[in-house]
Amino acid sequence: MTKALDGVRILDFTHVQSGPTCTQLLAWLGADVIKVERPGVGDITRGQLRDVPNADSLYFTMLNSNKRSITIDSKNRTGKEVLESLIKTCDVLVENFAPGALDRMGLTWAHIQSINPRMVLASIKGFGPGKYEDCKVYENVAQCAGGSASTTGFRDGLPLVTGAQIGDSGTGLHLALGIVAALLQREKTGRGQKVTVAMQDGVLNLCRVKLRDQQRLAHGPLQEYSQFGEGIAFGDAVPRAGNDSGGGQPGRILKCKGWETDPNAYIYFITQAPVWEAICEVIGEPGWKTDPGYAKPAARLPKLNQIFARIEAWTMTKTKFEAMDILNEFDIPCGPILSMREIAEEQSLRDTGTVVEVDHPKRGPYLTVGNPIKMSDSPTEVTRSPLLGEHTDQVLRDVLGFDDRRVDEIKASGALGEFVPPRPREVSLGGDVVAVE
Ligand code: COA
Repeated sequence: MTKALDGVRILDFTHVQSGPTCTQLLAWLGADVIKVERPGVGDITRGQLRDVPNADSLYFTMLNSNKRSITIDSKNRTGKEVLESLIKTCDVLVENFAPGALDRMGLTWAHIQSINPRMVLASIKGFGPGKYEDCKVYENVAQCAGGSASTTGFRDGLPLVTGAQIGDSGTGLHLALGIVAALLQREKTGRGQKVTVAMQDGVLNLCRVKLRDQQRLAHGPLQEYSQFGEGIAFGDAVPRAGNDSGGGQPGRILKCKGWETDPNAYIYFITQAPVWEAICEVIGEPGWKTDPGYAKPAARLPKLNQIFARIEAWTMTKTKFEAMDILNEFDIPCGPILSMREIAEEQSLRDTGTVVEVDHPKRGPYLTVGNPIKMSDSPTEVTRSPLLGEHTDQVLRDVLGFDDRRVDEIKASGALGEFVPPRPREVSLGGDVVAVE
């Protein structure tokens, strides 16, 4: 069966997480993704957080499925010629280097356009134009600068970063959409274009409900936040709201049976207004159905702590899965707090290809997250990540059409480097040497 992006060829100059998320997704949609890596070293994540000696880490393997790997030294003159040949034949160049790095390689937008006017140049940077535009940025920096950290956590605690990689993977997803749109537009204009997503912008886009609340603050307290019912005044910025729901239907994380020993024996419970009467029946408070102090949503807002404490007295008598079964019968929106162990073992996620087991020649079988986008006419088969430089020869010959003589010349130039096994990097911290990989 064909794939949605069959025929699209991506020159993948990405590393770490944000860019690789984007190109992995495009590969799952059928694009031919050729990942360019530095000879002997490769994407730094190959060696980071290693769990199996001398094998690519899960950090790398779970972000680089379905790609080919070619090693080229972009600062070597012949290497640059090879890259320019690839630019001629590819549709999209994706990169997430530090600001200015691509220009320093001589691959300015003007130069890329002169080589291939149909090329889409897609970039991720930490910040858009402005005072921070030259900064290097990682996930948690973006979460902080994009408004996520200041609005995550409990009111009286520190700002918190979230486990969901909204700065890296979130920005990669945004970029993938921009690339597909640019390819569609190219159908009409015949021209490529530059697509850029700043991680700060990507995070803010995912935090838009908090900018909504910032503006609502000017018109009075945020009544669905617990602190309203607790009589605590609001300041001039959106506070952290613990596990309060971000929407108009109040919700909380509540303890379930076993919470004393199981850190994930909890359920998210939403007191959706249309099923309020069913909630009252289930928890054993039928009087709240008609009591004017509880019957209408507005009357309940100042009492959320008391109401959720009563609901929790009921959820604590059930496991999270027993509570789910009962609540689902009444269409009461709720969700178990699933541990990563439970997710890894969940059969339905395996059945849909959302969690996939892949075999790898050096590390053996490993689990990865498959394509969350399901398409009826473009199925995804997840294949393992490439070894460093595994496809260098293949790409030089099959994609670029180079013959033996040219391939030998390129090898002799040093552009493909010599294989140097990656060594743990070390940093010096005030005299102490600390291994970081
Ligand atoms: N051949 C030769 N040199 C290569 C190469 C290749 N194939 N691939 C990369 N390099 C060089 C680059 O040219 C650059 O050299 P320069 O600084 O002399 O110009 C160098 O490798 C390092 O690139 P850089 O991007 O600065 O890496 P870093 O490890 O210092 O920084 C980030 C990492 C992620 C902080 C930085 O890339 C960044 O801010 N990226 C944008 C935001 C982003 O995506 N962040 C999230 C990452 S998950």
